[in-house]
Amino acid sequence: MLSKEDNELLTRTNRGTPMGDLIRRYWIPALLSEEIPIPDGPPARVRLLGEELVAFRDTQGRIGLIGEHCAHRGTSLFFGRNEECGLRCVYHGWKFDIEGHVIETPAEPPGSDFKNKLRHTAYPTHEANGVVYAYLGPRDKKPLFPNYEWTQVPLQQTYVTKCLLECNYLQGLEGECDSSHLSFLHRAFTNERNQPLYKSDTAPFYETEDTDFGVRLIATRAADKQHYVRFSAFVMPVYGCVPAGRPTNELEGFEIHTYVPADDTHCWRYDIGFRRDRAVREDEVHRRKQINPDYTRIRNARNNYLQDRRMQKTINFTGIEDFLNHDACATESMGAVFDRSKEHLGVSDKAVIAVRKFLLTTVKELQSGKEPPHLARASDHNWFPHIDCFAYMLPRDSPWRERFDYLTESARKENPASFSARQKAAS
Ligand code: FES
Ligand SMILES: [Fe+2]
Repeated sequence: MLSKEDNELLTRTNRGTPMGDLIRRYWIPALLSEEIPIPDGPPARVRLLGEELVAFRDTQGRIGLIGEHCAHRGTSLFFGRNEECGLRCVYHGWKFDIEGHVIETPAEPPGSDFKNKLRHTAYPTHEANGVVYAYLGPRDKKPLFPNYEWTQVPLQQTYVTKCLLECNYLQGLEGECDSSHLSFLHRAFTNERNQPLYKSDTAPFYETEDTDFGVRLIATRAADKQHYVRFSAFVMPVYGCVPAGRPTNELEGFEIHTYVPADDTHCWRYDIGFRRDRAVREDEVHRRKQINPDYTRIRNARNNYLQDRRMQKTINFTGIEDFLNHDACATESMGAVFDRSKEHLGVSDKAVIAVRKFLLTTVKELQSGKEPPHLARASDHNWFPHIDCFAYMLPRDSPWRERFDYLTESARKENPASFSARQKAAS
């Protein structure tokens, strides 16, 4: 459990809150490229960390992420005209560029320099493989954009979906760090994919290791004469990296599930996936069918996730279709901001506890003036190949630490290039 104070500390992310300040120090997903597909096209509303923003793609294709409400008298710039390298307010025609400069105030007298005294809220963006990332922190603290593998592989080897989760971001994020729910929440009674592995051992053995990027999470299940080992990762500040499901070749690629606070009671779930050596197949992105064009989910709390009680008896554990909705049902039904002083944590919550502890330590250190971890400051430090996730069948007498020693923190510290060298040799 958490004290009420620590629960508040971790769950509140508006500007000026400690956790809000921490998350603002990192690049985070702000919207999808498809929301602003063409230059001079319609802008998109973006709710992020309690802030009301609009994104637009200007005439030159550059992306602006600026305050939604016009600096003049507050009209929403969502309704604005996106024209000639700027977004023009529909009320009195003030025009803003992607950096927040007020470039025209046509209702002011000719020669007025009023506009030069103003600066509108604007945040830097970086577009990579269908996602527009943003940095909402202090300008002088801006880190390099982290060149994660999923931002570097060819576009056709990636996929991304976005949907609204109607609860605090931490509830979603904690679900990614909790391997034991796979044995229940996502269980199918039909004999598909790797379901037997989850059923065979419902109480995985957990190991966690603090790293430079966050926490590495290892869950081991007994499966006949083998071990089914899942390597996951919590990556600062809101990324949960998980294997794509069934036991895989460790070089295949993985999924990144990101929970970006929209405000304290809503978050955006981005599911990014990538394959290292092949294009993604359409059927691998089944969750797209679950999401409305406005990024809400078809199955949601108001329709009880369209739960089918007969299906629950015969088809799967929840009677609800698709794991996206399973997760939403489990995490949204806790309430908008769960009070963790009321919970009862068991051994199966070891990974959740480790991630909370990492976040609590980091946010308290930032409050006392220490710089947060995992901020890329030099060009040779913005690539993180040791953030790797996969699921693997190992003989019982073969400990994962021997087979995958490069994933241990001690090995990484001794030889940080070991993973990249190994990966290149294998490709
Ligand atoms: S409110 Fe936007 S120009 Fe007046
Ligand atoms: Fe899940």
